[in-house]
Amino acid sequence: MSKPRTFHVKSFGCQMNVYDGQRMAELMKAEGLAPAADAGEADLVILNTCHIRERAAEKVYSEIGRLRREDGSRPLIAVAGCVAQAEGAEIPRRAPSVDVVVGPQAYHHLPAMVAKVAAGRGRAVNTEMPILSKFDALPQRRAGSPSAFLTVQEGCDKFCTYCVVPYTRGAEVSRPWDAVLDEARALADGGAREVTLLGQNVNAWTGEDERGRLQGLAGLIRAIAALPGIARIRYTTSHPNDMGDGLIAAHAEVPELMPYLHLPVQSGSDRVLRAMNRSHTAESYLRIVERVRAARPDIALSGDFIVGFPGETEAEFGETLGLIRAVNYAGAYSFKYSPRPGTPAAAMEDQIPQAMMDERLRRLQALLTEQSTAFNAASVGRRTAVLLERNGRRPGQRIGKSPWLQSVHVDTDAPLGSLIEVDLLSAGPNSLAGALGQRRAA
Ligand code: 5AD
Ligand code: SF4
Repeated sequence: MSKPRTFHVKSFGCQMNVYDGQRMAELMKAEGLAPAADAGEADLVILNTCHIRERAAEKVYSEIGRLRREDGSRPLIAVAGCVAQAEGAEIPRRAPSVDVVVGPQAYHHLPAMVAKVAAGRGRAVNTEMPILSKFDALPQRRAGSPSAFLTVQEGCDKFCTYCVVPYTRGAEVSRPWDAVLDEARALADGGAREVTLLGQNVNAWTGEDERGRLQGLAGLIRAIAALPGIARIRYTTSHPNDMGDGLIAAHAEVPELMPYLHLPVQSGSDRVLRAMNRSHTAESYLRIVERVRAARPDIALSGDFIVGFPGETEAEFGETLGLIRAVNYAGAYSFKYSPRPGTPAAAMEDQIPQAMMDERLRRLQALLTEQSTAFNAASVGRRTAVLLERNGRRPGQRIGKSPWLQSVHVDTDAPLGSLIEVDLLSAGPNSLAGALGQRRAA
């Protein structure tokens, strides 16, 4: 196989995978490879995979099959991400066309691994987990867009009984204060106005600041908010148990912190929450939501839900609907329970039949859609700040985000990255339409 000149990264799954995919792309560019718009044209294809639900591994194998080209040739194929971590050397055994397997904590080794394969020295597999060396080894960041992701924390020690993350991403690790601030500064210098701090348990972030004081996520948010150029900060995903007083206070006191909180609860039934090993109750979750709303009355909530966890009764499912009604969500992600190999819940009795899960998911999503539609409809008539992030389909049209993470379409010639005041005029199912307000936002 000759040395690849072009590459394409295809990322599946969560925002952290999007971030990792961007970092892999930066790595390959630093090696002199050019990005190809399409996997069909690239010399090197990196599949950045997700293992969280479904038969994710199966999807990867069919994706690999599709990379074969009409003339019988194929690109150099690297499988990265959480399926790579979970399956390791099993992947090339099942799919011999895979050349490189690299886990989420080892992808800084990609250039060396690709070089080895291109030089005809066999395959390369690396699923080691020394997390901090990865970030140290990656090239300095440059922002390409007004809104950027920034991983500050990785891994999970919570061991919810349904979840593979503690196994694929490893133990909870926080990136050091200076490393995060340096990356945030580089992103701001490159034009980012908004950063979204990422972590599987982002609100469990801890570290020492430049004066050696112990800080939590709230302190980090305050420091990033003080950087020139940064106008907006978001963070995701949070665990209810790490929603401390300091972080709640930051929602009241830091104007750059956007009034939107993704706080998964999974179920509204205490019996199910115990079986999930969530270590919070429906009631304690609702108290947190209450305190967050007291700190920031206009905050919008979103959540993650699982229907059909083993043993879930109709009454317990009803408790989840009840909790959703009590919170009133602006957005949500909801899933059918999917047994993941190696997790405790996969071995539990009383797995719920697919048809029942389908039916529950339909009812749950109908309620959540009703709530998000009502939330968007209630925004109409408001004047709000919108950060312009990309061009719309029509000439002169731009698409940006409201503080509440709503997509807003607006006709304006203001450049991308501008923060403008917009009057919200109408709401569709997935976005709002607005018109330029009279004054400019701060
Ligand atoms: N089945 C269904 N949903 C899951 N999630 C995690 N593991 C599973 C699983 N085995 C969902 C949870 C989590 C989100 C990222 O994915 O809701 O918050
Ligand atoms: Fe998975 Fe639970 Fe950790 Fe979230 S908190 S990553 S659901 S184990």
